[in-house]
Amino acid sequence: MRKYTFIVLALVAGSLVACQSRDAGPAKSSATKAVAQVLTTPDARDIHSHADPAVARVTHVMLDLTADFEKRTMQGTATLEILAEGAEPLLSLDTSRLNIQSVRDGEGKDLTFRLEAAVPVLGSALRIELGAARRVVVAYSSSPDADALQWLAPAQTAGGKQPYLFSQGQAILTRSWVPTQDSPGIRQTWEATIRAPAALTVVMSGERTAEPREIAGGQREWRYRMDQPVAPYLIAVGIGELDFQSLGARTGVYTEPSRLAAAANELADLEKMVAAAESLYGAYRWGRYDLLVLPPSFPFGGMENPRLTFATPTIIAGDRSLVSLVAHELAHSWSGNLVTNATWADFWLNEGFTVYFENRIMEKVYGRETADMLADLSWDELQGTIKDLGGPQSADTRLHLELAGRNPDDGMTEIAYVKGATFLRTIEAAVGRERWDAYLKAYFDRHAFQPQTSAGFLTDLRANLIKADAELEKKLKLDEWVYQPGLPDNAVHVSSALLAAVDQRAAAFATRGIAAEQVSAWSYTERVRFLNRLPRKLSAAQLASLAQVMNLDAQRNSEVRFAWLRLAVANRYSPAVTNLEDFLTSMGRRKFALPLYRDLMAQGDWGRALAQRTYATARPGYHSVTVGSVDKVVQSAAAKAQ
Ligand code: BES
Ligand code: ZN
Repeated sequence: MRKYTFIVLALVAGSLVACQSRDAGPAKSSATKAVAQVLTTPDARDIHSHADPAVARVTHVMLDLTADFEKRTMQGTATLEILAEGAEPLLSLDTSRLNIQSVRDGEGKDLTFRLEAAVPVLGSALRIELGAARRVVVAYSSSPDADALQWLAPAQTAGGKQPYLFSQGQAILTRSWVPTQDSPGIRQTWEATIRAPAALTVVMSGERTAEPREIAGGQREWRYRMDQPVAPYLIAVGIGELDFQSLGARTGVYTEPSRLAAAANELADLEKMVAAAESLYGAYRWGRYDLLVLPPSFPFGGMENPRLTFATPTIIAGDRSLVSLVAHELAHSWSGNLVTNATWADFWLNEGFTVYFENRIMEKVYGRETADMLADLSWDELQGTIKDLGGPQSADTRLHLELAGRNPDDGMTEIAYVKGATFLRTIEAAVGRERWDAYLKAYFDRHAFQPQTSAGFLTDLRANLIKADAELEKKLKLDEWVYQPGLPDNAVHVSSALLAAVDQRAAAFATRGIAAEQVSAWSYTERVRFLNRLPRKLSAAQLASLAQVMNLDAQRNSEVRFAWLRLAVANRYSPAVTNLEDFLTSMGRRKFALPLYRDLMAQGDWGRALAQRTYATARPGYHSVTVGSVDKVVQSAAAKAQ
């Protein structure tokens, strides 16, 4: 039996909230608020947090912050409600580069605290002697280079007139703007009052509880809250010149005014996707599902902030071809946001489940053929990742990761995503879709609003699906999947007949070339597969003909553009350089930027010079997440060369 420490089942919180209307009144008093449970098994201990939840833990966060665009800080207070045991409990919070001004109890009396020296990766522990206090008010400001916050100058936005701010909490960045226990296993409810210049709109990953209010100094004040306990990496804010367009009864999109029509058009199927997701694995429990389409420096494709997915503008391809990314973030409303990895070592529980679910949504909305192509394409990416990680023996190809002394970012590879999804697909194939779907739906219900570990999932699977069927147990190879490197030999590989036809075209390209009519009807998936399957070495004439036939220098689909640029770089193909420079200086999505810089650095003086020149221009516009990764590639290689 696993032991839980819990006060009130979070499930109750979920169902209570589900009954409330969207614009329910002011926040309930904290006394009636449900408290989420915390796992106390050894595998749920989070090495990426200073928190000691068994001694004292944060259950609710109240933010009162002013966004100061001149100083580039968030300044104000975080009031924390605490559950603590013992007479003299010590509350340990995570912080990163925060300027702590005071720590007081609920009555305004100073509490003794110390801000410890920063530990690499983790940041500084803030230790507070609680005494009898169960409410703590921390007055602070964030650093101008807080990792979670990107402050954009007007020139970095589409409108060019107003500044912009967005946060990115996952994995362990929330601590750079909110002093709390920044661990995915310590769920917290929250509410926030945010002040910003009156011309700007503030959006958050919660429910807006009041209309914005004009206040002194040309400011407006906004209020949000999240009554369902969430992992702190899911607290998010976006501030900018934003407009909103509704897309359905509970869906819509926020973005800068000049981008709104294109974004709304791209996301026309959003409501349908939510319905498809619900038909698979149960009710959507978060009320609204909106998107915020960010400026191009957003370092990820998407981020599943509850009620408000954050997305890169690179999904606006003009032809709705990249909506699987939206299916992905939407799926996180179950896998990740409802049932959450207790630690980053089990990141695959978030992403692997989500990639599986994403594909099921795509199948429901767009059909089997489309879904199979996407799954097959991701299989290629998995094979590439296994190779990059040093082959199938490498410890980093395990689902349950060993992250001691490392940044959780190290675990954010296709292993978690695609090996994870392949594991679930393999179980589905073994037990049949009907039985598997019933299990998975019930699994999300059983663990809703709770943290989960690999061991916990396997225990649940054995208790509720396998039920001592020895033959099935043997066939599935569960422990091998979760704890061993490489891909077990029962892995189910979805292969798409359409992509197999594309592969033949790619194989014939060297001798026969390709004609425009052969590619004109291809989906983006087929285009990407084709480009990736071409021989890596092509002549300038072949590349020129390819570019012309596939109209590659005018591609609006960022995935196709990326595949083309990788091929061009591999061949030091100068005519594509302008396109490459444009791409790398006009967006900061790490998934595209990092491999392109890596590829360039592997291309001798030609590539290194180009990488360094382009990065010098692009770096000031990139988010710290992208800078952190690309610096290691471009600058360390530069240092080595000296
Ligand atoms: N939750 C992730 C993004 C993330 C992971 C941020 C780890 C920080 C740390 C998000 O759901 C995601 O996986 N995004 C992908 C897109 C998706 C379609 C695979 C991305 O950003 O590329
Ligand atoms: Zn994801």
